[in-house]
Order: sequence, then C-alpha cells, then structure tokens
Amino acid sequence: MESGRNVGDGAVRLETKLKLLMKRPNELLARAGIKLESGLAVRDASMVGGRIEESGRLDDVVEQCHGSAGGEALNEPALRLLEAEILNRLSLPANRSGYSELHNGSLTLGRLCYAAVRALKPDIVIETGVARGVTSACVLGALRENGKGRLHSIDLPPLAEEAERLTGCAIPELLKDRWSLHRGTTRALLEDLLRQCGGRMRVFIHDSLHTHRNMYWEMMAAYKTLARPGMIIADDVELNRAFEEFVEETKPSRSGILQESGKEACCGYTLFEAR
Ligand SMILES: C[S@@+](CC[C@H](N)C(=O)[O-])C[C@H]1O[C@@H](n2cnc3c(N)ncnc32)[C@H](O)[C@@H]1O
Repeated sequence: MESGRNVGDGAVRLETKLKLLMKRPNELLARAGIKLESGLAVRDASMVGGRIEESGRLDDVVEQCHGSAGGEALNEPALRLLEAEILNRLSLPANRSGYSELHNGSLTLGRLCYAAVRALKPDIVIETGVARGVTSACVLGALRENGKGRLHSIDLPPLAEEAERLTGCAIPELLKDRWSLHRGTTRALLEDLLRQCGGRMRVFIHDSLHTHRNMYWEMMAAYKTLARPGMIIADDVELNRAFEEFVEETKPSRSGILQESGKEACCGYTLFEAR
C-alpha cells in the first residue's frame, strides 16, 4: 500500500533506542529474543519458502469461501470510503515512528480481512502485528458494518520515539470503540488472550514476526480454539514453509495463497467449516 514519508527503523539512533529501552526494561528480553529469532531464521536455509501456488483473484477466492456475502462485501461503499481514509492517513508524515512502507499491510490483505469479517460475523477477531493499522482498520470497519464484535490486536512496536503514538494511526477514530490493543510479544500474550476469548474467536490474522517458528506457532495456537466456521489469515507466507505446513497439518476446508497488490508478498487464507 502506498504511504508517505517515513523514517524507517534503521534510522532510529542507537542512543535513542537505549533510552527508550530504559523506560521499559521489562521488554529487554522480549526484544533480544525477537532479534535472535530473526537472525537465526535468516541463516537457516531450510526455512526458505517452498513452491507457492497462487489461488487466483481476490474476488473469486472470497466468493468461493463466503459465497455471495463475500462478493457483496468487497463492493460495499463503506469499504471504498474506508480505503480512501486509510490511504489518506498513511500519507501523513510518520517521522520517528520506526515504521516504514514495508510494514504496511496491502489492500489485498485488508480486503481479504474485511470480507471474512463481514461474512463470518465474528464476536471476536484477534490479529498479531498492528504497525500503522491497515488490517486493524479493515477489520474494525467490517465490525462496525456488522454492528457487533471486538478486535483484539497484539503488537510490540519498534523502539522509536513516536512508535507508540503512531501505532494504529491509519484507523479512523470512530472505529476505535471496538478495539483493544495489547502491547507485548505474541509469545507472551497470545495464549492467555485466546483462553480469555473462550472459543469465541472466529477470525485470526497473523502479521507480526514472520519467522517460521513464530508463524507456525501462532497459527496452531489460534487453530486450537478457533470457532467454526472460522478463518485464519497470514501475511508474507512466501517467506518460509510455515503456512504450507500448517495447511498440511490442519486440513482446512479451503485454503490458498494470494499475490498482494502493490507489494512483493503473498497472503494465505484457510477456512475451517463447521465440524
Ligand atoms: C508487518 S507489521 C503489521 C502490519 C499491519 N498488520 C498492517 O496491516 O498495516 C508487523 C508489526 O508487528 C510488530 N511485531 C514484530 N514482532 C512482534 C512480536 N513478536 N510480537 C508482537 N508484535 C510484533 C512490529 O513491531 C510491527 O508493528
């Protein structure tokens, strides 16, 4: 997705990072763990993604998964207006946020999430990885159209002065009443959150740390308590084999991979029908 002038994580000075870390020393271990896990994933050649077969166009995929409810959702004026608002918000400067264009979810991913939430009418959606909040905004927009439901998002923002303030800045204010943002790593927070949701989560979106270990672990944790029919969506599935292995292991009713617009990346979807 297009966005404005940002200063990426690499531009945040070490001194600033250390100062910010001192303010939240309890995050030190978690951040060190993420660095280590990312570093190890880069070195491990066996974790490189396998053969990716695309499933076709977004409209077709959404219709196959959700029937006419899905197709209609993609044509809703509310979605068009929301996308314009998101793009507008992303065009505002986000200096010292640590977020760059690379963090932004694509329109393809956002639409896939919007259609899933409109069609499945979940009481609870959980997503991991917020950044400036493209997927969050799309889910919240769909929940508003549904007139029910809550989004729980887990995110550990980058170490940058404006990161906390600008996390979720693409989300229109009027959508935030259905939103709970939980700060921390998914390792620390996801399982407790799933327990608290007591089997009412019907849509799960992975978009946090894209290592094989974390992606597979998050998707399996979500799968174990997913309400049926339910959907698990993951971004950047081309980076490793976690999504393919998850599909092999859980045998969803439908699954596939979509090439994202405006981004060299693919998102994966799995639909689990009623048992
Ligand atoms: C790719 S961005 C999310 C994009 C967002 N879904 C969107 O549509 O714009 C990833 C986000 O996850 C956060 N993150 C990275 N590793 C994490 C972890 N282990 N636990 C929680 N959040 C993490 C990053 O700081 C960043 O905010």
